[in-house]
Amino acid sequence: MGVYAVTGSASGMGRAVADKLRAGGHTVIGVDLREADVVADLSTARGREQAVREVLAASGDRLDGAVLAAGLGPAPGKDRPRLIAEVNYFGVVDLLEGWRDALAAAGNAKVVVFSSNSTTVTPAVPRRTVGAFLRGDVERAVSSVRMFGKTSPAIIYAGSKIAVSRWVRRSAVQPEWAGAGIRLNALAPGAIMTPLLETQLATPSEAKAIRSFPVPVGGFGDAGQLGDWVVFMLSDAADFLCGSVVFVDGGSDAYFRADDW
Ligand code: NAI
Repeated sequence: MGVYAVTGSASGMGRAVADKLRAGGHTVIGVDLREADVVADLSTARGREQAVREVLAASGDRLDGAVLAAGLGPAPGKDRPRLIAEVNYFGVVDLLEGWRDALAAAGNAKVVVFSSNSTTVTPAVPRRTVGAFLRGDVERAVSSVRMFGKTSPAIIYAGSKIAVSRWVRRSAVQPEWAGAGIRLNALAPGAIMTPLLETQLATPSEAKAIRSFPVPVGGFGDAGQLGDWVVFMLSDAADFLCGSVVFVDGGSDAYFRADDW
């Protein structure tokens, strides 16, 4: 049985993953703003350092895997773009860099990062936004979407997920990750019924866009099913999976990009 760090463990898909791992006999060190083994605010550098430190202490510096599910969706609010940037990108990269040696210590660790199908279906995400994330420049990432006004949270959301997916793919193949036996992969869900989506559906302007969005199989995804995908991507079946972004989105990505191969 393994020891797994799971961020966003108090709600939605992170919670589904934590429940399934615990039901399978594994030890889970949950990280969240509340109701977690490690209560930490991933929107600040200090909170991220605390999460790194406390998870390492709780795991004895050895992790069989990590699931990075903490995230914020697009929502109105002046400070929202910064929060999205801090949690969705730096709340993944800073933690994984801090846990890397503990993951390497396990010998065959698996990591699943939550991306999103917004990465391929959101038009007009500026290259400079993604570039700023990858350079670690949160100020530039936030300022680069200001001109989008009310849609800036949606643009920086997609930008944060594109950047984190690119970070996963770039890092996954490096000697410090693949070479250290760590399988780094991402999962890109479509609209999944969780508190995050419920909040968006309660906002009339967003609800209209979400409900009219093409989903070939129809409806919304189920958090438990996404949890099953994560558990699969943490299992031995994923030994040969490295740097992949797995879309589980009811067909929206294929609808828009069938010929992009
Ligand atoms: P959720 O809102 O149900 O759960 C997210 C968790 O992250 C919450 O427990 C929340 O407290 C935690 N979190 C937020 N800010 C935090 C902070 N500053 N510090 C620590 N923890 C924090 O969301 P859901 O839907 O389960 O999302 C999980 C992941 O999947 C997110 O990264 C999200 O962007 C992504 N995703 C969700 C989709 C959906 O339709 N639900 C679609 C595509 C991607």
